[in-house]
Amino acid sequence: MSLLAELAREIMRCQDCDLHRTSTRAVPGEGPENASIVFIGEAPGWNEDQQGRPFVGPAGQFLDQLLASANLPRDKVYITNIVKHRPPSNRDPLRAEMKACEKWLDKQLEIIKPKIIVTLGRYSMAKFLSASESISKIHGVARKMDNMVVVPMYHPAAALHQQSLRKTIEADFQKLPQVLAGLEQVEVATPAAQQLSMF
Ligand code: URA
Repeated sequence: MSLLAELAREIMRCQDCDLHRTSTRAVPGEGPENASIVFIGEAPGWNEDQQGRPFVGPAGQFLDQLLASANLPRDKVYITNIVKHRPPSNRDPLRAEMKACEKWLDKQLEIIKPKIIVTLGRYSMAKFLSASESISKIHGVARKMDNMVVVPMYHPAAALHQQSLRKTIEADFQKLPQVLAGLEQVEVATPAAQQLSMF
């Protein structure tokens, strides 16, 4: 069994906060272990809770369109959430719930080691960037952090019904292939640069 699949089994058994009592099942996330890009939303909604898969409701259908528009097949990226169990009535996750759940996302990222993390909405943005940053100013701007690049985006659910945000998130997704290509160029260039420095 793959490391991610083993981890998913652990997540399914998690009882570290009360959300497991009110939800149907955990939604660990899905995608390949070698994904270059990880998308991180907020928490499962009703559809995700029913199916055990992330982003399969209306926001997920919009995410699928955005991925297709950026030539990113859904089965080549990893998709998950900050919180793995659905909060009752889709309320915002509580600080204690996010804290209890944080270890799972950290372990997923340790296994996948993505080149790019795309945060969808304010909760995942706050994990990687300062909570004082404003999404209206920094959306779609790739930021180098340690050994990866973080790209903050609006949440697809927020953009779904608001025409101006919809255009914004669509334009932001169009930048992703370029960000990925830029990173791949750096990787190709690095060994040659190292070779040169040996002589
Ligand atoms: N919204 C999220 O943040 N995550 C999902 O999986 C679905 C909707």
